[in-house]
Amino acid sequence: MKIHGENLTTIWEGADGASVEVLDQRVLPHLVESVTLRSVSDAHRAIVDMTVRGAPLIGVAAAYGLWLASLCWPARDFRPGLVRDAEYLKGSRPTAVNLAWAIDTLVAEVGALPEGADVPSALLAGARRIRERELAHCRAIGEHGVRLLEEAHRRAPGRPVRLLTHCNAGWLACIDWGTATAPIYVAQERGIPVEVWVDETRPRNQGASLTAFELGQQGIEHHVIVDNVGGHLMQHGLVDLCITGADRVTRRGDAANKIGTYLKALAAKDNHVPFYVALPSSTLDLTLGDGVAEIPIEERGPEEVTHITGWDGSTLRTVRVTPEGSPAVNYGFDVTPARLITGLITERGLCAAEEAAILRMLRGAPGAP
Ligand code: MRU
Repeated sequence: MKIHGENLTTIWEGADGASVEVLDQRVLPHLVESVTLRSVSDAHRAIVDMTVRGAPLIGVAAAYGLWLASLCWPARDFRPGLVRDAEYLKGSRPTAVNLAWAIDTLVAEVGALPEGADVPSALLAGARRIRERELAHCRAIGEHGVRLLEEAHRRAPGRPVRLLTHCNAGWLACIDWGTATAPIYVAQERGIPVEVWVDETRPRNQGASLTAFELGQQGIEHHVIVDNVGGHLMQHGLVDLCITGADRVTRRGDAANKIGTYLKALAAKDNHVPFYVALPSSTLDLTLGDGVAEIPIEERGPEEVTHITGWDGSTLRTVRVTPEGSPAVNYGFDVTPARLITGLITERGLCAAEEAAILRMLRGAPGAP
């Protein structure tokens, strides 16, 4: 998608053949900068400090991180390095399963290679394939999800479709297109007017800073709202549907996503507003059933709650918003139970958030987790 008219993706290979460039999401929308990753620790740090973030993107960044790691492994005996660095990368963030999926996929592939094989080339090819796969799946999510926007537009043709989303499940969280935003961008191509309510998404404000930015850059009508407004809008008929992304969806259809998603789903249920979750199949974790009990929820540092970062006109500044001495807790994600989800939007189509439907949808999927 575009930033200041230039087509960009979130991650690309460096020209020197031994590095990876990523858009720095800590400074967007105020600065458009990239960061160069040259080692596995650079990739690990970029995921931990959220230079890169969003479930599909951290999977791809970790895949490239494993390739960077392999450039330092002895050619004769790559296995100890593979095991060590795969675990290191998998430990960078716990909730989004895309990260573990990407690493496990690559480990299974290169683990089967004979000693003396060109492991770095195999890992680079694997990282490229995962990147292309995620990109194509996001576009396909858009093609399937746009049907919901077309239907909403048919029901009320005289005005834009009003969609609410939470956090950033846009192209900045992926490689391109996004998951929750992909149907919006496809709708734009088809001339369907859409207006987006963008939850600011405290504490890191991925909605206010990233989703608002990317929608604005693409010319999509939107309003940023504070996190508690969604219920009021739904009560007054101002939301046609909600679409969020996800970081991990269990085989029963429970979906972990950015903290606060659950409350939007509750409000949507109470107001008969359809609530959809968009995800590529790399976000499915079929090993888990009960998402509330089983999905690991990331806890981040309290300073993300006690402080807020913004642009003062010339520089980024971080200021305290809580009294000195008031402790804070910072859960990064919550789980929306399947009973609150109207449907899942995947690269293979729309499906109910329930085990039988998910398994049916995946039947015959090449490389499906
Ligand atoms: O903590 P973040 O910014 O990585 O969280 C991102 C989200 O929760 C997104 O909604 C999710 O990863 C979906 S990605 C298309």
